[in-house]
Parts: sequence; C-alpha cells; structure tokens
Amino acid sequence: MARFDPDFSIFGILAGDLLPGKPIETTRIDYVNQACAEIYGDLTGMEFSELFATIAEGTEAGTSLMEKFKESGRISFEGKLFGRFVKFHSRIIDCRDDDACAITQYIQAGITDITESVILKKLLYGTSEALRRAAEAADDDTARHISRINEYSKLLATLQGADVTFIEKIASFAQLHDIGKIKIAQIIRLPRELTREEFSVVKKHPSFGGKMVKGLEGLEMAYDIIMDHHEKWDGSGYPRGKKAEEITLAGRIVGLVDVFDALVSSRPYKKSYDYDTTRAIIAKGDGRVMPTHFDPQLLQLFLENYQRFVSIHRKMKS
Ligand SMILES: [Fe+2]
Ligand SMILES: [Fe+2]
Repeated sequence: MARFDPDFSIFGILAGDLLPGKPIETTRIDYVNQACAEIYGDLTGMEFSELFATIAEGTEAGTSLMEKFKESGRISFEGKLFGRFVKFHSRIIDCRDDDACAITQYIQAGITDITESVILKKLLYGTSEALRRAAEAADDDTARHISRINEYSKLLATLQGADVTFIEKIASFAQLHDIGKIKIAQIIRLPRELTREEFSVVKKHPSFGGKMVKGLEGLEMAYDIIMDHHEKWDGSGYPRGKKAEEITLAGRIVGLVDVFDALVSSRPYKKSYDYDTTRAIIAKGDGRVMPTHFDPQLLQLFLENYQRFVSIHRKMKS
C-alpha cells in the first residue's frame, strides 16, 4: 500500500487503489484510518461513487462532485455526513515510483469533522450580530452605516488579498467598529454640530467599545477594529496615536471605508458629498481628511476600485 502523506493523515483517511483502466467511481475504499472509523464507522468496501453520493446528499450531486474530482484531482467540499458537518478533501497522488504495485495513481481522501468549529463559528457570529442589534437600538442612523461597513470591508480585504478566514471575520466584525457609541447615544443623536467638549467625549467611543470585547476569545479582530478604526497611518489618529503598520490591518481597512461612508452619508448635523467630490477628498485631502491618513496600498486599491464601493453605498443606502 502506498504511503500516506503525514500532513494529510491528521484527518480521517479513506483510500482506495486506482488501477489502470478502472474508473475512479467503481474504486472501493480499502483503508479507513481509526480517526475516520470512530466517526463514520468502517467504510471499507464502499465504492467511491457511493461515498460521494452520501457526502453530496444525493446521487446526482455525488456524480457532479465526482466529475469535479476527476477534473482537478483535488477537491474540497463542505457538507453534512451522518448529521455531522464534514469537510471532505480528496486528491490523486502519483505513485508510479512505488515499486510495490502497478498502481499509477492513488486516491487519497480525508474527512475532517468540523461540527464543533461550525457551531463555534455560528455562536461567534451570532454574538457579533447581537451586539450590532444593541448598537442599532441605540442609534438608528448608525445602524444602516454599520451594515454597509461590513460589505465595504469585505471587498477591500478581498482586493488586498487577505485569506478567506480574515475576510469572513472582517465581514462579520466590521459592524462592531462603533459599538462604543452605545455609551454616548444621547450626544451623537443631537441634531446639531457638537461642541468641543461633546466631541472629546465622542472620541472616547473606541475605548468604550474596546472595553466591551477586550479579552474575549474569538473576538480579537473585533477588538482590533474597534480600537484602531480612528487611528491614522501618519500617526494623527486616536485613541492611541498609532502609526503605519502598528495599526492592525483590520483597523486600517475599516478606518478607510468608514471615512468613505461618512462622507457620502448625511447626518443630522451635516450634508453628504456626492461620489466624485468624496473621491477627490480621499485622494487629495481637504484639510480634515488627508491621504496620509490611510495605508497607501489600501488607498490605491480603494481608488482603483472606487465604483465598486459606490455601488455598495447605492444599494444599501436605505
Ligand atoms: Fe467610530
Ligand atoms: Fe463608523
């Protein structure tokens, strides 16, 4: 039997020989490792087509999954198996050099049981949503703004080339950036420009929000976003006056799109700017907003893809 890739063998392993001229779908599983057997029972003898059909919840879906597998020799599929959430990985490894057999290729497939992590993820994003609703109850105008921030942040993180986990998190936690405003709801609802004293209280909202999530496992990125979204690349921001890469990437992303949304949105005390004026302010500065406030790489990506951010605002305006 061909050797298993040690990195791969941390998962439940199923494997079957693929002989020359023998279709993959009729290949039977001839090995099930203990981790896999403990969860799914002994699948030895099952045909791969049957396994695919089970995983894909139906013969038709199983067949198309099999086609995908044949095309790429490598698939990753998340589905449910026997009531559990599973991640199914499969690939063909070339083992022509294996002198033990006439096998030209070997199917190696792994099943990761991700039930616990799926539940934890749901709990985590549920917590984020509950906090967002609390913020919404405190201030309705902010509610629409914070939903848009999720979308812009997801887009900018994607353009930046962030990994999938980062993108998934920022798309759920960006909405918490202003959670600290719950504490100052009376001030931010005033239908006029704020006094100097009132504004200095408003500037404490990152610290108020930071305290709400500090030290909570799973909410680390939420903390970064809350604390860093008013920090500026040139060090002129608040609450800590961080600079450049001292500011977390999540904070830099949310900080930029937050400024964009604030400029294109009207508030009780200010009118909105049109999209062209907003772009010019962000690119060239107007004294209050300056291009030196932003991560240059993110700023470039933002400006190059400006219309995509505008579309999100148009779609989610009301
Ligand atoms: Fe804020
Ligand atoms: Fe904001």
